Amino acid sequence: MAERERVLSGVQPTGQATLGNFLGAFRQWRIQQEEYESTFLIVDQHALTVEHDPAALREGTLQMAALLFAVGIDPTRSTVVVQSHVAGHAQLAWLMECTATYGELSRMIQFKDKSRGSAMVRAGLFTYPALMAADILLYQTDLVPVGEDQSQHIELTRTVATRFNHAYGDIFTIPRAVIPPLAARVMDLSHPEAKMSKSSADGQGNIYLLDSDDQIRRKIAKAKTDLFNEVLYVEDDPARAGVRNLLEILAVLTDREPKDVASNFVRYGDLKEATATAVIEQLSPIRERYQDYMGDRSQLVSWLAIGRERASEVASQTLSRAYDAIGFLPSKEVTYGD
Ligand code: AMP
Ligand code: TRP
Repeated sequence: MAERERVLSGVQPTGQATLGNFLGAFRQWRIQQEEYESTFLIVDQHALTVEHDPAALREGTLQMAALLFAVGIDPTRSTVVVQSHVAGHAQLAWLMECTATYGELSRMIQFKDKSRGSAMVRAGLFTYPALMAADILLYQTDLVPVGEDQSQHIELTRTVATRFNHAYGDIFTIPRAVIPPLAARVMDLSHPEAKMSKSSADGQGNIYLLDSDDQIRRKIAKAKTDLFNEVLYVEDDPARAGVRNLLEILAVLTDREPKDVASNFVRYGDLKEATATAVIEQLSPIRERYQDYMGDRSQLVSWLAIGRERASEVASQTLSRAYDAIGFLPSKEVTYGD
């Protein structure tokens, strides 16, 4: 049998995960783990690129693990790893920093967005995409399921991997992004021109995966719509972004096309009601499982240890090949990558 293709993706353990994370990423991961050899990273090292609180980072890392398992990532099937547990990420990142160019990193939209207006921009925020490239390439990844906001980083990963392979030999698999056809960019409910984001200021337009049923209903009821007063799915019209967002959310959750969903509604109120019901149906079992997992921390820790073990094997192989190719003198005493 041919080897299964490899899937890899990652999430930062900071802030509370949103419906955007679920629809853009976690839901795809849950489906893809059935078919592909899958690795999911909790990227604690990426979380250092902006101001952070050490205790919150530590707790957030465990909480994110509980959440991924609660969403349905199966620890017997998939490898769930904390990035800092496998040294190869940081080690390969340096090689990537010395393969990517300053110009390439300067063009990253996420860097521009996150650094804007900040007086103390950490150097790691600038080199962030090199670490992300290392995450992906370390596991010889074929497919990277992510929301749309990450596509530029994956394009850069492909460029850097191709450059490395040409310069030093065929070391890395060239990965492809997998962006979901719908809800790849879930928008903020109060400001539908902006992405729903863990780090948004007031959070009123965010549905968090651990929100209560009441909170979900309230936030969706208050979602910004428009004055057209007709439930229509219109792509690329900024004036209709709010209704489009609700239609996409409901369409994905009920496995239909947004245009068909739209034809079932006349009033915005009914669309909101149905969307809230569908979201609650998805999220409330996740919330319950999350509480169960958080109640047994030693189980979480031991699943993460198994993840580390499995991940280290591939990571150390790739890293020693990359070190060798780039011209580092091998040392008999050192094992790289794990
Ligand atoms: P992050 O929250 O930045 O760690 O993102 C983790 C994953 O969730 C990435 O694959 C993102 O592309 C995805 N994601 C985050 N926010 C959204 C959103 N509003 N819509 C769709 N996908 C998202
Ligand atoms: N940069 C991604 C985000 O903010 C997280 C991430 C880090 C990632 N390493 C990755 C995603 C590797 C996919 C593959 O969402």
